[in-house]
Parts: sequence; C-alpha cells; structure tokens
Amino acid sequence: MARILITSAIPYINGIKHLGNLVGSQLPADLFARYMRARGNEVMFICATDEHGTPAELAAAKAGKPVADYCAEMHEVQADLARGFRLSFDHFGRSSSQRNHKLTQHFAGQLADHGLIREVSEKMIFSIDDNRFLPDRYIEGTCPNCGYDSARGDQCDNCTKQLDPTDLINPHSTISGSTNLEVRETKHLYLMQRALRDKLEAWIDSKTDWPVLTTSIAKKWLNDGDGLQDRGITRDLHWGIPVMKGDQPWPGMEGKVFYVWFDAPIEYIAGTAEWADANGKADADWERWWRTDKGADDVTYYQFMGKDNVPFHTLSFPATILGSGEPWKLVDYLKSFNYLNYDGGQFSTSRGRGVFMDQALSILPSDYWRWWLLSHAPESADSEFTWENFQASVNKDLADVLGNFVSRVTKFAKSKLGEAVPEGGDFGPEETALIADLGARIRDYEAHMNAIEVRKAAAELRAIWVIGNEYLQAAAPWSAIKTDPARAEAMIRLSLNLIRVYAILSQPFIPDAAQAMMDAMGSDDWTWPADIGAALRALPAGHAFTVPENLFRKITDEERADWQQRFAGTR
Ligand code: 2FM
Ligand code: ZN
Repeated sequence: MARILITSAIPYINGIKHLGNLVGSQLPADLFARYMRARGNEVMFICATDEHGTPAELAAAKAGKPVADYCAEMHEVQADLARGFRLSFDHFGRSSSQRNHKLTQHFAGQLADHGLIREVSEKMIFSIDDNRFLPDRYIEGTCPNCGYDSARGDQCDNCTKQLDPTDLINPHSTISGSTNLEVRETKHLYLMQRALRDKLEAWIDSKTDWPVLTTSIAKKWLNDGDGLQDRGITRDLHWGIPVMKGDQPWPGMEGKVFYVWFDAPIEYIAGTAEWADANGKADADWERWWRTDKGADDVTYYQFMGKDNVPFHTLSFPATILGSGEPWKLVDYLKSFNYLNYDGGQFSTSRGRGVFMDQALSILPSDYWRWWLLSHAPESADSEFTWENFQASVNKDLADVLGNFVSRVTKFAKSKLGEAVPEGGDFGPEETALIADLGARIRDYEAHMNAIEVRKAAAELRAIWVIGNEYLQAAAPWSAIKTDPARAEAMIRLSLNLIRVYAILSQPFIPDAAQAMMDAMGSDDWTWPADIGAALRALPAGHAFTVPENLFRKITDEERADWQQRFAGTR
C-alpha cells in the first residue's frame, strides 16, 4: 500500500466554475484519487477555494456584501457543486482559513530568515475615489502607440503593445470610472527567486517523466528574457493575509497583505491541516503527509492544474518550499492540462459563455458530464465541447454500450432464470477467450491510469465495455437456452459477474452508475480485479441480484438543440 497525496488547483472564489475549469484540475484529480483508493492505497485528496485578491473584493462589492461573508457563501456554493459532481475530496478547505494565515506568515518569515526577501519601493497608481491601489488591469486609457481608447494598464488589446499604467493617456479606474488617480510610492516584499534559479532548474531537470506540457512551460519561464524574475509577494489590499514575519509584525508592512498567488498554493498544506482539525486529529496526522522529517518521505505527491497555473507550481511555489530551508514535500508529478473550448469559441466566465457547473447538473446527472469531460480531456492539445459530440458520446458509450449490456443481461436473466446467479456448466472456449482478453485490457487500463493518461484510460475502459457486448452478441444465450440451457446459464453467470467487475473498473469515471451496478448485483465487494478469472467467479450460483433502473438515458435531438441555444451566451 502506497501513500498518495493529491491536490487540485484551488478554484477562485468569485463565481461558479465552468466545465473547462472543472476538467482542467478538479475532475481528473478526482479520477486519480478514486482510482488510487480503489487500488487499496492510502490517499489524501485536498482542494479548497482561493479566496483572496482584487477579483474577490470586487465580486463581493458587486454583490453588496462584506467580502468575508461573500467568500463564506460562495465557498458553500462551490462545495455543494463539488459534491454534486462527486468530487471525493478528503477536505475542501479555504485559503482564508487561520491555518493558511499562520502557515503563509510562517513561510514568509522563513524566507526572510534565509535572506530571500528584499524590500522594493515602487510607484503605483492610487485611485483616490476607490481608496485603493489599482492593479494594472483595472486601469484603462488611450494607448500611446495606436490611439485605441480602451487599452489596459498592462497591455493594449488592439496593438498588443506591453504597457505600463503610467504610459496611458487619460487613464481611469475601471472599477469606478474615476480619473482621480495619482502615482504613489509604496513598499513591497519581493521573493528573490533568481537566487534559487539553479536549484529550481536542477529540480525540474530531474523530473524526466513529467508531461512535456509541464516541463516546457517551466523551462520557458526559467529561461525566457532575463530568466526567472524576483516576484512581489505583497499587495496594498484590505482583504488577504496580513503581512507578518512568522508571528512578529513586519516593520513598514503594516496594512498590507500577501499576494494571492503567494498564499494560494500554501493552502494545499493548510487545507490538510484543516482536514485534521475538522476530523479531530493531531498535527502529526497532517504533517505525515507534508513533512519529510515527520513521515512524508514515503508519500508520492501529485498535482493537477490547467496550463496557466504551471509557472506558479513549477517555480514560485517550489521557490517558497526550497527557500524555507525546511523539509516540506515538493511535488513528485505535475499533471497539467490544455484548455477545453466551447462550441467554436472559448468558455468565458466574464461573458457567461459555455456550461457552468450548476447548469450542467440542472440538466443531467454528473456521470454524463464526468464521462464526456474525462474521455475528452484536453491532454495533448486543446479540445472542444460540442453538443453533437456530447450527445453522440453519451448515447453510444453510456447508453448503447454500457447501459445496454447491463440491462440486457439482467432482464434476460430475470425473465428466463430468475433473480439469482444461475449455476450452469463450466466456462467454455468463448469465456476463456473473453477472460484472457479482459485480463490484458485491464492491465492496459491500469497502466494508463497509473500514468494519468486520462483519455487513453477512458478509451480502454470503453473497449472493456465493448468486449462484454461482443461476447454477449456472439454467445447469444437467448438462442443457447433453447438447445443447451447449462451453457446459457454459464454465460449469464459470467455476464452478471462482469457487471460487478464493470462497477469496480468504472467507478473512478462514473461513480453513481458504478454504485447502481454494484447494488443491483447485491454486492459490496469492491476488491480490484487483479485476477480477472477469480473476479468473474466472485458471485456464486444462487446469489441474488436485481434489475437496475436504466443506468443512462439517451439525449434526444430536441434536447440537444434546446441546450445548444440556451448555453450560447450571457448567463
Ligand atoms: O487559476 C486558478 O483558478 C487559481 N485560483 C489556482 C490557484 S492554484 C494554487 F496555487 F493553489
Ligand atoms: Zn495600442
């Protein structure tokens, strides 16, 4: 039994996530966590809401709520949707937790003690009417290069020129529209990442088995331009983790908070501490996942995220960990994803384009979405959700292949032989061939799952469902029962057992349907089919089963057309 630590990138608090967000981190992380548990490993699976930063403050203001209340409410909304999608987190934490405050301040203190923090005075735009410093993207004005009148403080979207907010002509705040802006001097803490460059490079170079997507992004950031830059880790905001050096005040930093990207990944650790608190456990119980001096040396740590998050997880967060000089666990395998597009364009939170988690669950149960998303995960390239493709996959894979097998077998068995596994004779050559084929395919499936090749694993699982159907079609127990009832009974005995095996193998992808299959087979034995021959004999003759409700229904053309229209734009 191995010990597997899994974290998913933690979703921003401001708003409900769309399916592109879901398939980029939380869902594949859940697939892997479920699989690793099914194989008998000890798993710790952590996610949380990412609650700090300007967007959270602004979303709260827009909702007319104090930011702390807004975050508490949105956390519950997201936790509820996570349950709806059957995301099996051991804990769904909050980056605003006291645990994260303490740990973030601790890390900052350690970094300072190791000489890795410097103070930088910089000139920033202060909006007098908004009473806040404005991050670059909240300042707009006329581009000095092309004259475009809605250029952002960091870049002109018209001519793509990189800008500094002070370059803009007639700048204004996009929060209030106010032009009452001034340049103010402010002091910030910088993490001296450059000093850690060689260590980081050696560490990344040692990860020869990582996906190309992950290492290529990491390398690009290590080497591009002047290479790795030192990075500001504090902000002049009201909402966030107060800047402290451990538990001591940080002179000159009063009223400032840590940058959201500094505290967010630390929440992976803090979230595990929150798990311990929520379950009445001791510090040692979470530390054994994270501190190599306290038992975590035999933990394998996997992270899941979209490609835009890779630089922070291959450089910045490891810089925090390495720079602390303490024996915290670094990630062992970083699985990153490309983007999922939506029906000829992009998913867009700001424009409400695409299907959002709450909307998805309002039209179909989670297994339908889980299956489509995972079997089309944007691994080697971006992928695209279309309603036609969704309808075709659900109707074929889930309804025609898996659902149909379960329903044909159980209905036939019940009507001809009664609601118990029949006795029948020994398995014949067809059954022996099926068992051999299944065995080989299950080993392939395991290999893909171990390697987190999500699409390949889904394709193999589908193939495993298909060979059950093909066997049934070729063996034709409905004919055999007339000429050789004992043969027909053996076929049905095997097929009923196969339903239980399907439940076990399919559970990481479609947990609800898997449970329904297992329940119908009157079993609670989820032992992984390491020996498929034995697994197909697990339900003995006389064992009672029931015919389940239809596992999956088909999506009609009318529904497809209706949904396509409903989710075309603005939420
Ligand atoms: O991209 C995002 O949704 C970020 N909230 C992810 C943060 S992951 C981490 F650093 F915790
Ligand atoms: Zn321009």
